Amino acid sequence: MNAPLSFLKEVDFSKEELLELIDLSLHFKQLKKEKTPHHYLEGLNIALIFEKTSTRTRSAFTVAGQDLGMQVTYLGSDEIQLGRKESVADTAKVLGSMFDGIEYRGFKQEDVETLARYAGVPVWNGLTDTWHPTQMIADFMTLKEVFGSLEGLHIAYVGDGRNNVAHSLLVTAAILGVNITIIAPASLQPEKEIVALAEQHNNGALIKITDELEAVEGADMLYTDVWVSMGEEIDFKERIDLLLPYQINAELLAKTGKTNTVVMHCLPAFHDRKTEIGLSLYEKYGLAELEITDDIFQKHSPIIFQEAENRLHSIKAIMYYSLKEG
Ligand code: CP
Repeated sequence: MNAPLSFLKEVDFSKEELLELIDLSLHFKQLKKEKTPHHYLEGLNIALIFEKTSTRTRSAFTVAGQDLGMQVTYLGSDEIQLGRKESVADTAKVLGSMFDGIEYRGFKQEDVETLARYAGVPVWNGLTDTWHPTQMIADFMTLKEVFGSLEGLHIAYVGDGRNNVAHSLLVTAAILGVNITIIAPASLQPEKEIVALAEQHNNGALIKITDELEAVEGADMLYTDVWVSMGEEIDFKERIDLLLPYQINAELLAKTGKTNTVVMHCLPAFHDRKTEIGLSLYEKYGLAELEITDDIFQKHSPIIFQEAENRLHSIKAIMYYSLKEG
């Protein structure tokens, strides 16, 4: 019997496999738009474990599972024994004996890997502190929709280069042969091990890591993410001071030298005061916008929300890819 096909991190997949997942995502999007039923996995059961909050990932796994005809059970981390009264390995064996697939969003990459090792069924990484692989299929699918092809694209990530999205974008771009520049202050650039992985799996991409904003020149897409990630305990003021020059705003976009550069963001984004955190940051530090200004966010919101919708189609493709042979 073949080992279950989990989706834990991008480097486990070849360029061809990632491209197949992107095309399968586009196919599922078409089926959904046409309202063509696709209950291909009728009778299967999946569990969704979330140790961190989520809107997009939880909704996408739920709706994708239901669209494929599966029963979906949400297991909030404060409602199950995981990690407190029962080890990850023991939990994996129990859930794997009842469910056909498990999604896990949590802190340590090691935990999702342990879950996959012992579950005996596919495990999908819904985000850890190190990687956010399901986000990547949606992001590169969106780029393919917008530009028609990934060939010859140059993308630039600007901001906190040490978070899971920056890691995943760097490595996925390298695997796909898409030119990528990570622009971040020296203390927030990706760790050497992550850059080494990108180089090891590179299929012809130009990879650049720099603190110079001028490196956005020629970029087809600018990407950013929140400046403080879930679970990080840091001095917020220090982080804001460090990253404010790396905000995506009209001045930075102008530095690309192009008029058709698009902006992407995995969301949620701090672009106004309409959230509790956004308001409290404004009251504390006088800043109404953080990683992206509201004018740029609004201008590029059609693509940003297309990217969010694509989480559904891509997660459906990932689950189908894992479970279709079973
Ligand atoms: N982009 C993303 O992972 O969104 P959620 O945190 O809402 O799932």
